[in-house]
This record gives sequence, structure tokens and C-alpha cells, in this order.
Amino acid sequence: MVKKKIYTLGIETSCDETSASVVDNKYNILSNIVFSQQKLHSLYFGVVPELASRTHYEKIHFVIEKALKNFDIKKINLIAYTGKPGLKGALLVGKIVAKTLGYIYSIPTIAVDHLWGHIYSILLTYKGDIKFPFLSVVISGGHTELSIVYSFTERKILGETRDDAVGEAFDKTVKMLVEYINKIKKYYTKNLKFLNKCLKHLKYPGGPVVERFANYGDPYSINFPKPYMLETYDFSFSGLKTAVFYYLNSKLKDFYPKLIFDVCASFQETVVDTITTKILHITKKLNCEIVCISGGVSANGYLREKMLDLGKKNNIKVYFPKKDLSTDNAAMIASAGAHFYFNS
Ligand code: KG4
Ligand code: ZN
Repeated sequence: MVKKKIYTLGIETSCDETSASVVDNKYNILSNIVFSQQKLHSLYFGVVPELASRTHYEKIHFVIEKALKNFDIKKINLIAYTGKPGLKGALLVGKIVAKTLGYIYSIPTIAVDHLWGHIYSILLTYKGDIKFPFLSVVISGGHTELSIVYSFTERKILGETRDDAVGEAFDKTVKMLVEYINKIKKYYTKNLKFLNKCLKHLKYPGGPVVERFANYGDPYSINFPKPYMLETYDFSFSGLKTAVFYYLNSKLKDFYPKLIFDVCASFQETVVDTITTKILHITKKLNCEIVCISGGVSANGYLREKMLDLGKKNNIKVYFPKKDLSTDNAAMIASAGAHFYFNS
């Protein structure tokens, strides 16, 4: 007997990516259209909620039409949309569109937890071929969450961030660098060309810029405090952010061009060392052999390299999503929705 295919339409609008995707049989991505609003928000160095909702409203039909190109919507068996967490107005756009399409075409809908979505970005990458239970670390612009995933639909949250999410710390570091350069520019006219070039690149989202700039700096040049907090499962990154602020302010009269790169490299090294040390500590404590790291920050090459190396040395299997599935996208929402709705 030929097994019937299950087609899921995913819709993601929780933050600043408007995305729609068709996934068949839970793991096979037929389309994954992402309209990134980053350029719009980069002026403000962070996501402006009202601007995000309006842009989702303007773009949602376009991304859904594109995702469904050459595909008959009547073949869709399920519509999965991001239910929470996220920006309220932004989430509402995705929910209303999903519910309306569901009503018109008599297709069931399901609300998906965005963090489950990130976990599914890894299951999608490996087509479900990862053994349970595993330790999940979601590190993104809005969330930092540590959990144990027992099955396709069960996870226990162990810890979260107490203040800033990791991605937010990357984004704010870039914002502080821009403020710093704008303060010192008039005193360092000899370096004006270099400083203006830096300003051109220092944009939201901060993560990819910090990673690029870090390649030219010394990761051990500045000693930022490392918030390991090994006695808890929680994270905290606001102290590190404050340390970057005070460091830059102490260098108003001490600028040298490599300083911009040294700050990026040292900041990245501090974040990566904090996260990887903590993961290693917890895997040992919980006797856990598998770690899955997802969310926008998991696209970071330095983190991937360090964590994979640590995994090899300590007999821990480490999984990351494909880079284009690290940041927000609707394929991960479709895959998660299909698993929850069809129950496996
Ligand atoms: O998962 P995501 O797309 O959105 C949320 O759910 O929040 O994550 C976006 C975050 C941003 O803060 C961005 O700076 C960060 O992921 N990010 C990175 C990298 N690429 C994106 N952080 C570090 N290194 C990167 N290569
Ligand atoms: Zn996300």
C-alpha cells in the first residue's frame, strides 16, 4: 500500500522574519520562503514591534503565495503557525491568516511554540535521526533556553536567561560600538575613513557582524567577565553587556583601529566560552550524551567549531541545524506542527 503524504503549510511571524513553507511528511522541505525585515529594523539597532507587525501584514500574502507556487492549497493537510512566544501584534498577523485559510479551505490549524520550532530545525536537518533524550540549547535574539527533550512532543525546561538573550547581547554590542565610534570620530580624524567604513558594516542584526569583525581581532585581548553561573541552569548576559559599555567608555581617549575588532573577538570568545563550558558541565552532571544547539546564534561559526571540538574530546554528540534553518523560518514551524498534530 502506498503511504499517503502529509503536506503542512507553516507560517512564522513571531519577530522580524515573515516566512511561509510547505513541508511534506514532516521533514521534506518543498519550499521555505523568508522575507527578512532586518534592513528596516537596522536603523534602530533592534526590532521595532509596530514596524514588524505592519511589515508582516504587508508581506505575508506574498510569502505564502510564493511558498505555494505550483502547489494546490487544497492538498494541504495542516496549517501550522507560530502561536507564542513573540511580539503580540506580529504573532496576530500569522494567526489570523492561518485561521482564515483554514476556515476557507477546511484545513485544520495548530499553534506551535516557537522554541519547539527551533528544536525542530535540527530534527529537520537530520530528518529525525537523533536519539531521545537530548539536551537542547536554544540561543536566539529573544530567547535563551536549556531543556531536556524526551520525545517529539515532550520537553522539560531547565533554565532560561535571567535578563538579556544571547543574540540580544550581540545586537547591543554592535549598537554600543556605533555609539562609541560616533563619540570618538571627531578626535580621530586620521582614522575617519576606517571609522566610517566600520559604521557602514555595524548594523542590526549584530551577530553576523561581530563574527566577521572578530576574525581580525585578538579574542584574548580584553578580559570581559564570564557569567558561567554553574550552580544554576540559568544564563545571564546583561553583566557582559555592561562590561562592554564600560570598556568602550574607558577607551574614549585611547582609540586604536584594531580595538573595534578586539572588542568583537573578545566578546565572542567570552560568550562562546560561557555557553560551551556550561553545556559541558551540564552534560556531565546529567549524564547526557547528545546536545542540540539551535536558534539564530547557533549560526555562529566560532561557536560551532568550539562546541564540535569539545564534543569530540568528551564523547558528546553535538548537533546544529543547517545554517539557513538557524534563524527564524516557517519550515521548522511546519515540521513541529505536523509532529504535534499527527502525534509522533
Ligand atoms: O532565532 P532568531 O532568528 O530570532 C529569534 O527567535 O530571536 O535569532 C536572531 C538572533 C539575532 O540576535 C542575531 O544577532 C543572532 O541571532 N545571530 C547571530 C549570528 N547570526 C544571527 N549571533 C551570532 N553569530 C551569528 N553568526
Ligand atoms: Zn527564533
